[in-house]
Amino acid sequence: MVDQKIVLALKFLLLVLFFESTFEQQQQERLSSPIERAALLELRSSLGLRSKDWPMKADNCSVWNGIKCENGSVSEINISGFRRTRLGSQNPQFRVDSLVNLTRLKSFNASGFYLPGSIPDWFGQRLVSLQVLDLSSCLISNAIPGSLGNLTSLTGLYLYHNNFTGMIPSNLGLLAGLSVLDLSANMFTGSIPVSFGSLQNLTRLDISMNLLSGPIPLAIGMLSKLQYLNLSRNDLSSSIPPQLGDLSNLADFDCLNSCVGIKGLMGQGVKPTVISWSISNAIPGSLGNLTSLTGLYLYHNNFTGMIPSNLGLLAGLSVLDLSANMFTGSIPVSFGSLQNLTRLDISMNLLSGPIPLAIGMLSKLQYLNLSRNDLSSSIPPQLGDLSNLADFDCLNSCGGIMGLMGQGVKPTVISRSIRWSTTPVIMKSRKPLSNT
Ligand SMILES: *[C@@H]1O[C@H](CO)[C@@H](O)[C@H](O)[C@H]1NC(C)=O
Ligand SMILES: *[C@@H]1O[C@H](CO)[C@@H](O)[C@H](O)[C@H]1NC(C)=O
Ligand SMILES: *[C@@H]1O[C@H](CO)[C@@H](O)[C@H](O)[C@H]1NC(C)=O
Ligand SMILES: *[C@@H]1O[C@H](CO)[C@@H](O)[C@H](O)[C@H]1NC(C)=O
Ligand SMILES: *[C@@H]1O[C@H](CO)[C@@H](O)[C@H](O)[C@H]1NC(C)=O
Ligand SMILES: *[C@@H]1O[C@H](CO)[C@@H](O)[C@H](O)[C@H]1NC(C)=O
Ligand SMILES: *[C@@H]1O[C@H](CO)[C@@H](O)[C@H](O)[C@H]1NC(C)=O
Ligand SMILES: *[C@@H]1O[C@H](CO)[C@@H](O)[C@H](O)[C@H]1NC(C)=O
Ligand SMILES: *[C@@H]1O[C@H](CO)[C@@H](O)[C@H](O)[C@H]1NC(C)=O
Ligand SMILES: *[C@@H]1O[C@H](CO)[C@@H](O)[C@H](O)[C@H]1NC(C)=O
Ligand SMILES: *[C@@H]1O[C@H](CO)[C@@H](O)[C@H](O)[C@H]1NC(C)=O
Ligand SMILES: *[C@@H]1O[C@H](CO)[C@@H](O)[C@H](O)[C@H]1NC(C)=O
Repeated sequence: MVDQKIVLALKFLLLVLFFESTFEQQQQERLSSPIERAALLELRSSLGLRSKDWPMKADNCSVWNGIKCENGSVSEINISGFRRTRLGSQNPQFRVDSLVNLTRLKSFNASGFYLPGSIPDWFGQRLVSLQVLDLSSCLISNAIPGSLGNLTSLTGLYLYHNNFTGMIPSNLGLLAGLSVLDLSANMFTGSIPVSFGSLQNLTRLDISMNLLSGPIPLAIGMLSKLQYLNLSRNDLSSSIPPQLGDLSNLADFDCLNSCVGIKGLMGQGVKPTVISWSISNAIPGSLGNLTSLTGLYLYHNNFTGMIPSNLGLLAGLSVLDLSANMFTGSIPVSFGSLQNLTRLDISMNLLSGPIPLAIGMLSKLQYLNLSRNDLSSSIPPQLGDLSNLADFDCLNSCGGIMGLMGQGVKPTVISRSIRWSTTPVIMKSRKPLSNT
């Protein structure tokens, strides 16, 4: 009986394997057009690709690395990660002219493959079937030709980490089907094209690490599908327009070292989960409206004034980092409401007054840094209830060590300025001390 079952199972397995292999056979596409075949060979020679990757004799697509065909035509080329022949690497150039004969090409990915030179003007006029163009990290320089605005089938345009200069052509605003536009880490100058407001299908826009200046177009606030917006490391002059507050899908927003004010982001709609940007002056209390925030990073800026007690409304916060600013006043008692907080860093400010007892109620807290402030009080015994606390730093900040003596507390790193010499004994013995 058992043997029969095994034989049956084996037969079934063989059947499955057989069907799978015939399925694969069917997937193997033949390149029907001699013109396209000639174009691939021409591309192989102009880029100096190895015959190992694209063997001369093959007439079907599956044996050429990085090539996919549909209905006998080349539909995808991925030369990302390819190496050139020795000859080909002697004088690498942006020579891809024969692509024009691949009239059904949907995707061209050369990420990381050096193509020194400029994007030729004909690119935008001839490669109109392209849906995805990835030329990231290709050592390309000079301006982007405005003709790229003709590639209206594009859904993804990745040009990051090159040496592009000049203005971002406003024609890119014609690429209405774009879902991802990544122009980061180049040397673009001028301002963000207002035409970007037309890219209604955009989910990711990254123009960080350029030399862009001028205002953030209000129209960006109309890109309702935007989930990721990175404007950091530019020289944008304006403050964040309130319109950005309407971006209800925005999860990541980064304007570090780029945006001047934070007038925006106050609307009802905005729900970024991570915000970091560089600003000065006081934080508006309306930040407390961003109740979807799980991380708020405002460290190392020039914030002044009090920490708004409204931040205590951000009940979903897991990380709150306000360190290295010039906040004055005391630690808001409302922080006691941040029940999901695992990291709280308010070190290196000018905070004074007592440590709120309520902080001892943040039961998930693992990291608490209060160091380098002017906190007047001693550490409240309530902190001893923080059973998850692993790191606690109150160097040059806390007055006493009355707290941290409870049974529960298990910090692995403690540093603080103390006045009594008995601490090491306390820590070693780990016995609850008397409450005197
Ligand atoms: C594709 O080429 C491989 C290797 O040359 C060969 O084994 C296979 O039969 C070919 N497939 C088709 C559909 O021509
Ligand atoms: C391939 O050919 C089939 C049948 O002619 C057609 O339905 C399909 O749309 C074609 N696919 C492409 C990508 O041209
Ligand atoms: C592109 O090719 C590289 C190297 O051959 C490979 O590692 C990568 O997975 C390919 N990428 C895609 C999107 O097919
Ligand atoms: C495209 O194909 C035609 C016909 O084979 C050929 O004459 C032409 O030179 C090719 N164009 C490029 C840019 O390779
Ligand atoms: C291009 O290929 C690289 C390396 O394989 C890959 O990481 C990247 O996601 C690809 N680009 C696109 C748009 O798929
Ligand atoms: C930009 O150009 C410089 C010199 O021409 C080169 O050293 C650098 O690697 C290039 N950067 C990128 C990202 O291509
Ligand atoms: C492509 O774009 C250029 C410049 O934007 C324009 O002059 C030209 O008419 C366009 N060509 C096509 C075929 O759409
Ligand atoms: C935007 O995306 C939707 C859904 O994917 C699609 O139906 C629509 O055609 C796209 N718009 C453009 C202009 O491509
Ligand atoms: C924004 O871009 C910068 C530089 O390209 C990068 O370091 C940072 O991690 C990005 N921000 C987010 C939230 O991804
Ligand atoms: C945002 O916060 C401010 C100040 O706390 C408040 O006056 C305003 O009503 C809030 N707006 C919304 C839309 O909740
Ligand atoms: C804070 O302001 C001072 C003086 O205005 C300036 O030198 C410093 O770079 C600023 N720091 C940050 C992190 O912006
Ligand atoms: C706190 O975290 C828990 C678990 O991740 C989650 O279910 C809950 O919704 C969070 N609370 C708030 C107010 O976001």
